Amino acid sequence: MVGMESFIPVITIDGPSASGKGTIAQCVAKALDFHYLDSGALYRLVALQALRDGVDVANVDALVKIAGNLNVDFQGEQIFLDNALVTGKIRAEECGIMASKLAVYPQLRESLIKRQRDFCREPGLVTDGRDMGSVVFPGALLKVFLTASVDVRAQRRYNQLIEKGMSANITDLQRDIQLRDERDANRGIAPLQQNKDARLLDTTSLSILQAQNKVLKWYEECCANKWV
Ligand code: CDP
Repeated sequence: MVGMESFIPVITIDGPSASGKGTIAQCVAKALDFHYLDSGALYRLVALQALRDGVDVANVDALVKIAGNLNVDFQGEQIFLDNALVTGKIRAEECGIMASKLAVYPQLRESLIKRQRDFCREPGLVTDGRDMGSVVFPGALLKVFLTASVDVRAQRRYNQLIEKGMSANITDLQRDIQLRDERDANRGIAPLQQNKDARLLDTTSLSILQAQNKVLKWYEECCANKWV
């Protein structure tokens, strides 16, 4: 019946590269027992497949085809591509850079939208990316724009890569993050930006727990306002 659809709460956390949005989104999802979608992983998966197939970043048709045919399975924190574990592989900077290059194509973004919306299930969803609040889940209950200074983000990415046993160089990471910010912010479609209805959370001097608690507090406020 029209108007009787159940309401599924969605929290979107958008923001620049290495701002910690994935970590915060996962913690918030755990605290609320909600589903979690790492939308950047989808772009990284397309990038990984394209790199494996030797597809040029200018070959839009081939990239859109890869996105449409992606055989991906999210099992908790593990991600499988064609039944093979790729959780660590897609975190390589090479994949992140390629992902940001192919994310500029409108047809490719369009072909990933349904896949992303399918994650919206009871009891709720927490998702992170660049356009979760603006394009994919415009009706989200809470929209957060999470950021931090370039230096702090480079340090966080450095720690993350070293922890995963990958090599990293802080100066290269700072440069890559700045380039990625520019590319993500200046593209014609779904650019990285803080939308008017998103709350700004600068985590430069916040711990993970402090940032998580802030989002949970905002969420409680949004829930209270929704039902009054
Ligand atoms: O972890 P990091 O923030 O570096 O990247 P990510 O969230 O895994 O996303 C990788 C790339 O995919 C980004 O640089 C974006 O260009 C693109 N992306 C996007 O365009 N839209 C999204 N919703 C998520 C990621």
